[in-house]
Amino acid sequence: MKEDKRMTSCPVGKEALSQSGYARMLELVTGLPKQLTAAEAIARQVDLGPRCDSRYVIVAGMGGSGIGAELVGGLVANKAKFVVVPCRDYSLPNVADSNSLCFVVSYSGNTEETLSAFADARRRRCRIVAITSGGRLAELAKKARLPVILVPSGLPPRAALGYLFAPLVVALQKLGLYQELGQELNRAADLLSRRQKSLHRKAKLIADCLRGQFPLVYSTTRLLDGVAERWRCQLNENAKVMCHTSSLPEHNHNEIVGMGRPIFLARHSVIVALLDSTTHPRTRQRLKHLLDIARGTFRHKFLVEITSGSELFRMLSLIMLGDLVSVELALRLGVDPMPVARIDELKRRMSLAKR
Ligand code: F6R
Repeated sequence: MKEDKRMTSCPVGKEALSQSGYARMLELVTGLPKQLTAAEAIARQVDLGPRCDSRYVIVAGMGGSGIGAELVGGLVANKAKFVVVPCRDYSLPNVADSNSLCFVVSYSGNTEETLSAFADARRRRCRIVAITSGGRLAELAKKARLPVILVPSGLPPRAALGYLFAPLVVALQKLGLYQELGQELNRAADLLSRRQKSLHRKAKLIADCLRGQFPLVYSTTRLLDGVAERWRCQLNENAKVMCHTSSLPEHNHNEIVGMGRPIFLARHSVIVALLDSTTHPRTRQRLKHLLDIARGTFRHKFLVEITSGSELFRMLSLIMLGDLVSVELALRLGVDPMPVARIDELKRRMSLAKR
């Protein structure tokens, strides 16, 4: 990881820190490798039926349950014969039909958009696999005799990423759509658990600098678009801060012009650019030039790259790094990373105001 030389360390404040929430979320975040291994074994045991050759693999899910779509999409984008279509809405895109495979993912099993997408997938006669810890989704899928990959319950959905992501990978393998990731999963999880400490050290450094600042997370390759998105969601929900993501090279054709305004934001912007060996060499040059051309429009920058291991391992490492940053930032801001009161309140109000 390269840091901006102008970076100054921002010490941890003396606010009342939520130690118990911090410790719990830290435990969950660092439990990712164990979750991956456990969920791999669970998914292997579920009978998913015959193989298929869908061109569209739709992943319907919201928030922490939906992010797997972008992650898997990034991993298979340049290799698979199918496209992964994320669905974060009440209905599926019109390409969805009886030849499509549709994963319906909701950790609680009770998210209304996802349940509606499930009903739509049924109407369109998609091949459905449900991934959930229970709730209404498990009930409905079981009643319809559809395969359900049932993962352990009781966690905040965003902290169940391993339980929700590994089944996608295993199911793609079992259904004959994509082999490599399923084979690689346990090895990547094992390596990840050994890298945890060094990732945590880096995370503390980044969190020190993000305190009181506005994070701009840049992805520089399709592989990492979902990772940047995961950073944003985790910073939103754990650290309770706003965060902006952007993707290179597209950024160079629009956002580069807007950098620096509004001025109050620019003064407090910290760029975290996520790089990988799959980043196009010309995109690396673009990042270098952009940081030079737009210098003065941001306060600090970090260039983050994992240089060893498989694509899956590198992706998981950057996810864990972002997760750790979000928890460490929560500690520095004196906020409890566990509750997401506004999401709960919105869900509560929506459940009262039935259509
Ligand atoms: C909360 C979280 C949320 C939920 C989302 C959908 O930890 O991450 O983004 O994932 O509200 O709920 P589920 O995952 O239960 O379908």
